[in-house]
Amino acid sequence: MKRVNVAVIGTGWCGGIRAETSRSSPFVGDLHIAEIKEERLKEVADKTHPASATTDYRKLLAIRDLDAVMISATPETTHFPIAKESLLAGKHVLLEKPMALTLAEADELIALAASKGLLFTIGYSQRFNPKLAYVKRSIDDGTIGEPVSALVSRHITRGLGNKISGRTRLSPAAMEATHDIDFVLWCFAPRRPVRVYAQEVAKILKKTRNAPDCVWIVVTLDDGTAFTIGAGWVLPPAYPNFASTWIELVGTEGAILVDDTHRDVVLNTLQKGIVFPISTMPGEKVGHVYAGPMEAETLHFLECLATGRQPLVTGEQARTVMQVYQAADLSAAENRPVELGR
Ligand SMILES: NC(=O)c1ccc[n+]([C@@H]2O[C@H](COP(=O)([O-])OP(=O)(O)OC[C@H]3O[C@@H](n4cnc5c(N)ncnc54)[C@H](O)[C@@H]3O)[C@@H](O)[C@H]2O)c1
Repeated sequence: MKRVNVAVIGTGWCGGIRAETSRSSPFVGDLHIAEIKEERLKEVADKTHPASATTDYRKLLAIRDLDAVMISATPETTHFPIAKESLLAGKHVLLEKPMALTLAEADELIALAASKGLLFTIGYSQRFNPKLAYVKRSIDDGTIGEPVSALVSRHITRGLGNKISGRTRLSPAAMEATHDIDFVLWCFAPRRPVRVYAQEVAKILKKTRNAPDCVWIVVTLDDGTAFTIGAGWVLPPAYPNFASTWIELVGTEGAILVDDTHRDVVLNTLQKGIVFPISTMPGEKVGHVYAGPMEAETLHFLECLATGRQPLVTGEQARTVMQVYQAADLSAAENRPVELGR
């Protein structure tokens, strides 16, 4: 088996998960990490014993036998430049969403990866949530017939809303609904989105962050099917980084309802009252097992590197998702439906 040498750039919340997962994978030879916060660099280095740990990611890109990088840095303005430099340095790339800030940047990354024959994928981790993978399979194998419509309602805590909206001007459509747009377009493929209508609400975070609290989006596809996504980031804390998702997908021969609201495990303590553990979007390690999708997604990327297979999420698919959430932003700003070009 070919072992691959990988680096994680930005070992915060997600990058820490990716580094720990990489360290435990038999596919990985050397692990390298880069993180500008020295304290966090040391913390992750102590857990993962990397071949090298640096505050300057460019030092990692200069390592000749480094095969791939996972880019998990924030703010999101770092994604495009670091991904571009990594591809130019000949490294395969897993890049957290959003892949870039503009479609032109997205196109540049896709073209660069293709021209250099490099694997390029975006961290749409929810595709590795078994419940969502079940929905996809139920469409692909004909169980519920042809898709007719879908609803995804995803809400996360206002702690996260504050964290995310505090570092960039990206909207809940770009930062949160993006996962669900990707998921539904994946399920409804090869249908393509043609029209987007969205409304934002700004009552809570506008005071502290000048940011919207939630967005409701309706997307029409080229065969007349439609889906709606509600995404908000102002829930009170129910667990650090709690996420609650409800999905309804209706087909010609059946329907699937998915409860991913994480109210199935209840922890009640005198000190903190009731919380709903193991309820974050990327998931978390629980002793010897991992609860959530990010470990499986990371292992999938590592396996693709070892076998030379294209990862599940393509750059082109992520670009289409970007088209939809940018249209949603425009629709909400101008209070009108937005037609999509190709
Ligand atoms: N797939 C998911 O479920 C999911 C969940 C949360 C976040 N995300 C995405 O993942 C990305 C990371 O989110 P997070 O919550 O882990 O962020 P975070 O802020 O916790 O971590 C990012 C880290 O990057 C570091 N960093 C910044 N610039 C750097 C540089 N030049 N070199 C090295 N390190 C650098 C920061 O110091 C920070 O520790 C975000 O862009 C977000 O959109 C995905």
